[in-house]
Amino acid sequence: MISEKRIALKNAGKYNPENINNYLSTGGYKNVKKAYKLNPSEIIDLLIDSKLRGRGGAGFPTGLKEKFTNESVCNRCIQKYIVCNADEGEPGTFKDRVIMEQDPHVLIEGMLIAAYAIGATKGFIYIRGEYTDSIKIVRNALEQAYQNGLLGKNIFESGFDLDLEIKLGAGSYLCGEELTLLESLEGKRGYPRIKPPFPAEKGLFGMPTLINNVETFAHIPYIIEYGAEHYKSIGTANTPGTKIFTISGDVNKPGYYETALGVTLRQLIRDLAGGVKNNKKIKAVLIGGAAGTFVDESVMETPIGFDTLKEKGAVLGSGAIMVMSEERSLFDMLHSILEFFKHESCGKCVPCRIGTSQLLLIMSDSKKTVSERKTILEKLLYEAEYMAKSSLCPLGQSPIIPIRSINQFFNDQF
Ligand SMILES: Cc1cc2nc3c(=O)[nH]c(=O)nc-3n(C[C@H](O)[C@H](O)[C@H](O)COP(=O)(O)O)c2cc1C
Ligand code: SF4
Repeated sequence: MISEKRIALKNAGKYNPENINNYLSTGGYKNVKKAYKLNPSEIIDLLIDSKLRGRGGAGFPTGLKEKFTNESVCNRCIQKYIVCNADEGEPGTFKDRVIMEQDPHVLIEGMLIAAYAIGATKGFIYIRGEYTDSIKIVRNALEQAYQNGLLGKNIFESGFDLDLEIKLGAGSYLCGEELTLLESLEGKRGYPRIKPPFPAEKGLFGMPTLINNVETFAHIPYIIEYGAEHYKSIGTANTPGTKIFTISGDVNKPGYYETALGVTLRQLIRDLAGGVKNNKKIKAVLIGGAAGTFVDESVMETPIGFDTLKEKGAVLGSGAIMVMSEERSLFDMLHSILEFFKHESCGKCVPCRIGTSQLLLIMSDSKKTVSERKTILEKLLYEAEYMAKSSLCPLGQSPIIPIRSINQFFNDQF
C-alpha cells in the first residue's frame, strides 16, 4: 500500500488560507528570508542540482530555465518578468486550483524566490477565469502579503522589490500555452507566437520572462528549506520529488493525490483512488489529458516519471489520470478528445483549422465494422501526422499523441 507524500500540498488544509497571520505563525515565508541571504546564482545552482522539472506538462528543468532568464540580456531590456501559469486548461487536471485555494502563500513564496533568482521585479499570476474561488483567495493573499511587507519594496530588507498582480484568462485552452499566454497578458488576441525566441530571451512585452506552472513554484520553498540532496532522495533519478495526480473516471475515490514519483498506475488507482468502480476491469487509462496517451495493462507497473513513461510510449503531462473501465468505448473517448481540439483550435493556421475538422469527419461513421475501423485509425494517423509536421503551434501538433497511443496499445480493439 502506498500513501501520499506532500510537498506542494504540504500546508494545504493546515491553515486558514484567508488569514496570513495563521501562515506566518507556523513559519510561513521563512524560506524566502533564507533564500534572500543567498546569491541569485546559488539559488539557481540549487534548483539545477535538485533536478526539479516543470509540473505544467513538458517537464523542462526549472533551474535551467531560471539560469537562461537570469543570463538573458538585450539592449532594450529595461525589465524582467515572472509569470505564473495558473490557466489549468488540460482536461482532467485540477491540481493548481487546490494549491491556490488551500495554500496561496506557498505559490507567492515560490514566485518571490524565483523572481529574486532571475532579477524580475514585476510578475503576473494568470488564472483561469472560471476559477472564481482561486481568484478570490489568491487576490486576498496578495493583499495581505503587501500589508505585511512581503511584496513591494525592499522585501526582508534585501533591497529587492517585487510587485505581483493577477490577470484572468478567458477560458481558451490555447492560452495555457506559454507564448499564447504572453500574447493574452499583453492584451492581445490569444494567438500563438513562433518559437524560438523562447520567453527567457523575448517574453512579455519583448523582455526576458520566466514562466512556470503553479505546482512548480510550490516546490521551490521546500527545496530551499531541505536542500537538493533531500529533494533528490524522493521520486525517481530523472524525475525527483512528488507530483499531484488528479484521478477521475471509473474509480471509487476520484480526487487529487500527491505522491512521490516512481509510484505505479496500479498503486495510484488501487491504493489511493480506491480501485475501479463495481470491481470492473480496466480497459484503458488516459494519462496527461487530451494531449495525453491511452495506455493498457502493460504500463500499469511502470514507475511513473517523465522519462520512464516516455520509454513506454506514454506521457506524464500535467498528471491527469482518467480511468476507463471495460465498459467504456475508446472510440467515443477519442471522439470527445478530437471534438475538444476542434473547439479549441484558434484557426490561425490551415493544417490545424482544417485538420481538426477532418479528424472528426474521418471518425464520423462510427457504425463501421471492426476491419473498417482499422482503416479509420490509419486515416487518423495519416492526417494527425501531417498536422503534427505542419501546424504552427503545439495544439495542432497534439492530436497525434492520443491517436498514436491507441494505435500502439489498442490497435486490435479500436
Ligand atoms: C495547448 C497547451 C496548453 C497548455 N496549458 C497549460 C496550462 O493550462 N497550465 C500550465 O502550467 N501549462 C500549460 N501548458 C504548458 C506551458 O506551455 C508551459 O510549458 C508551462 O507553463 C511551463 O511551466 P513549467 O516549466 O513549470 O511546467 C500548455 C501547453 C500547451 C501546448
Ligand atoms: S496549430 Fe491550431 S491552435 Fe495552433 S496556431 Fe494553428 S490553428 Fe491555431
